[in-house]
Amino acid sequence: MRSFIERIDYFKGNDPEELAKKFGTPLYVYNEDIIRDRMTKVANVITKYPYRANYSCKTNTNLSVLKIAIETGLNADAMSEGEMRMLLKAGFTPDRIFYVCNNVSADEMKFAIDNGITVSLDSLDQLKLFGSINRGGSCSVRINPGVGAGHHEKVVTAGKKTKFGISEEDIDSIFKIAAEYDLKITGINQHVGSQFLDPAPFLAAVDNLLRIAMRFKDLEFIDFGGGYGIPYHKLDDEKEFDMDQFSREFTAKLDRFVAEYGSAPLFKSEPGRFCVAEGGVILGRVYSIKENSGIKYVGTDVGMNVLVRPSMYDSWHDIEIIRNGSVVGREDGLMEKVTVCGNICESGDVLCKDRELPVVKDDDLICVLDAGAYGYSMCSSYNTRLRPAEVLITSDGTAKLIRRRETFDDMFALYDFT
Ligand SMILES: Cc1ncc(COP(=O)(O)O)c(C=O)c1O
Repeated sequence: MRSFIERIDYFKGNDPEELAKKFGTPLYVYNEDIIRDRMTKVANVITKYPYRANYSCKTNTNLSVLKIAIETGLNADAMSEGEMRMLLKAGFTPDRIFYVCNNVSADEMKFAIDNGITVSLDSLDQLKLFGSINRGGSCSVRINPGVGAGHHEKVVTAGKKTKFGISEEDIDSIFKIAAEYDLKITGINQHVGSQFLDPAPFLAAVDNLLRIAMRFKDLEFIDFGGGYGIPYHKLDDEKEFDMDQFSREFTAKLDRFVAEYGSAPLFKSEPGRFCVAEGGVILGRVYSIKENSGIKYVGTDVGMNVLVRPSMYDSWHDIEIIRNGSVVGREDGLMEKVTVCGNICESGDVLCKDRELPVVKDDDLICVLDAGAYGYSMCSSYNTRLRPAEVLITSDGTAKLIRRRETFDDMFALYDFT
C-alpha cells in the first residue's frame, strides 16, 4: 500500500505541483528510466535463438518514446500508415518495422510495400489484394489460432469471436493464393490478447503457433504477438509478470520446435503495454467535490478524452493524491470511498467507482498510475477538449516537454471558416 511514486521517486526530485503549474493539467508524465528498463527486459526474453521484440507502437507513439525503443534495440510493429510514418520519422529503418494491418486499402498497403516494410495479411481477401499489387513479393500471414485470452473481451484478439487473423482451416487457401500471385510466405504471426500476468495463455498460444508453423516451409520468422501484463494493482502489491520464468519456458518450447523444424527462424514478439504502461502517469486537478444520493464524487480534469481505458474496458488504475507537492499517505488513516470522474458530458466518464482513497480536497492533484500505454494514444478531442501535453522525466532528472498541449488554433486549422 506504500506510495509508488514516492517509493521509486517517480518524478526524480521534480515537484509534481510545479510540473502541473508549469505545463498545465491534465498532464502525461513519463519516466525514462522505467521505460528503458522494461524495453531492455523485453529485448532480452530469448537469447539462445535469433530473436527480436517489436515494440507495438499503438500503445504510445510519442517520438521520444520511439527513440528510446530504437536505442534499446527493439524493432517495432505498426497498425496504420500513420504509425509507419511515425516510426520512420523516429529513425526506424524499414527492415525494423512490421506492418500488422487489417482491412486496409491498396494505397495504404502500397505505402508499406514502396517503403520496403514487411506486411502481415489478416484475411484471404487482403492477401489477394497484396498479391495483386505486389506479385512475386514476400509477406507474412496473421493466423487466428482459434483461442484467445485477455483482461477484457475487447482485448481478446484471437478465437472464434474476433475479427482478427486467418483461421487454421483456411491455410490451404493461403497456399493457393500464394501460388496464384507467386508470393513467398516468409513469416507467420499471431496476437492472442493482452495483459497476461500469468504467462500460461501466452505459452499455450506459442505451442499452437509452433504446431501450425510446421505446415509452412522455409519460414524466415515466427511472431508470437504481445500481451505481457503489468501490475495495475501495484498499491496492493500485485505481483509482476515473471519475465525470467517466462523466458525459460518460452525457450524450452523453441528448443523442441527447432529440433523438429530443422532450423531456427527469427523468433519475434510484439509487446506494447509492458514497455511503457508503468513509465507513464497522468497528473490531474481536483475542481469539485460533491455528494449525490450518498455517493461522493471527486470531479477532476482527467476525463475519458484523456484516459479512455476505465470507461472502455472497466480498467483499474491506481490513484495517488498529491497535496502541496507531497503524496497524501494511505497510512494516515483518513480514507473514504469516492467515485473519481472527469469533466466530460457522459455518465460513463468515471476513472474509478467507490474507491477507497485518502480524503481528497479541492485543488489537490490526482496522479493516475500506469497510464503510459493506451493512454495518450487513445486520447480524443471529445467535447472539443484539447489533447494534453506530455513531459518526460529524463534519466538525468530533467522534466522535458516532449509534446506540447494542443491549442484551439491546432484544432480549428482543420476547418475552412470562410
Ligand atoms: C497485433 C498486435 N500486436 C501487439 C499488440 C500489443 O499488445 P500488448 O500491449 O498487450 O503487449 C497488440 C495490441 O492490441 C496487437 O493488436
